[in-house]
Amino acid sequence: MRSLSSLVRPNILSLAPYSSARSEYSGKGSVFLDANENPFGIYNRYPDPMQKALKEELSGIKNINPESIFIGNGSDEVIDLCYRIFCRPGVDNAITIIPSYGMYDVSAAINDINLIKIPLDQNFQLDANMLLPYNNDENTKLLILCSPNNPTGNLLENIDDVINNFEGIVLVDEAYIDFAGSLSYIQKLATHPNLIVTQTLSKAYGLAAARVGIAYASREIIRLFNKVKPPYNVSALNQSAALTALKEREEYENQKQLLLTERKRVAEVLINAPAVKKVYPSDANFLLIAVDGANELYQYLLNLGIITRNRNTQIPGCIRITIGTPTENDELLNAILQFSI
Ligand SMILES: Cc1ncc(COP(=O)(O)O)c(C=O)c1O
Repeated sequence: MRSLSSLVRPNILSLAPYSSARSEYSGKGSVFLDANENPFGIYNRYPDPMQKALKEELSGIKNINPESIFIGNGSDEVIDLCYRIFCRPGVDNAITIIPSYGMYDVSAAINDINLIKIPLDQNFQLDANMLLPYNNDENTKLLILCSPNNPTGNLLENIDDVINNFEGIVLVDEAYIDFAGSLSYIQKLATHPNLIVTQTLSKAYGLAAARVGIAYASREIIRLFNKVKPPYNVSALNQSAALTALKEREEYENQKQLLLTERKRVAEVLINAPAVKKVYPSDANFLLIAVDGANELYQYLLNLGIITRNRNTQIPGCIRITIGTPTENDELLNAILQFSI
């Protein structure tokens, strides 16, 4: 890995971050006249800018130091911050895989970063050799990998190779890791200072509405995230919802088991549907299917009020289907079994 300071944008390295009213004192206050809040109400106070309680809880669960944890307004914020911390607009470039999560592209475009897209092979795996030329490009700062990948559903096999050999920062997006029977790359943080792992409470923890994403990385990288984030980027309501969900994680474990059972059942029925040509193996809470007439099937389901994700333009002939409740899945299956083009 190149030195961290050579990978960070110079203006971020030298940035004096905003110092919020609540982070400037230590000790116990009882009269708060520092932040121009309304003294009345329930939600009248700014939230903890550093989300200490939430980080403590995550630290216990993940066995990682709280100083190696950043909480974002969804993992979409983590992705955006990675571009903003490491890539100079109009100068630096980043790399990702295709097909993958659309926000890597959108966020790069917003930040005026040239995003190089490496196509996955026919098994939706990455050939790590394709990254090697970029190790000689000192403007290549960031590589974004998604595992399990959206929309293909599979874990990437050779991330180890990549994090061992890539000279820049590697962001591994593990939004769907809770549904995969594999260890998180959080395990590798201690030995790989170029690694950032992002996870989310939007999927297995059922908190998409609350917008809570997490980045795990070295303390040095987390300090950079803290410098750049808006001071109160995670609301008190969201912090509280996240804390409750994490404390009740047995409940989410049960939901996850049900979703995994349903994933298997839905896949087995789908493969026998006349229109379905292939059901791709999934390590996530969705299935990618190849069908005869993707646009037509998508529209047919839409007319029945069943919304799926048409991925035909990304992967010809493919639709991505999220695993729902057993009743919702039955509705979907009944509809697809009756479809023919
Ligand atoms: C791969 C991937 N990363 C990140 C996200 C965004 O997650 P969040 O809700 O935490 O912003 C999604 C959402 O669909 C996703 O599929």
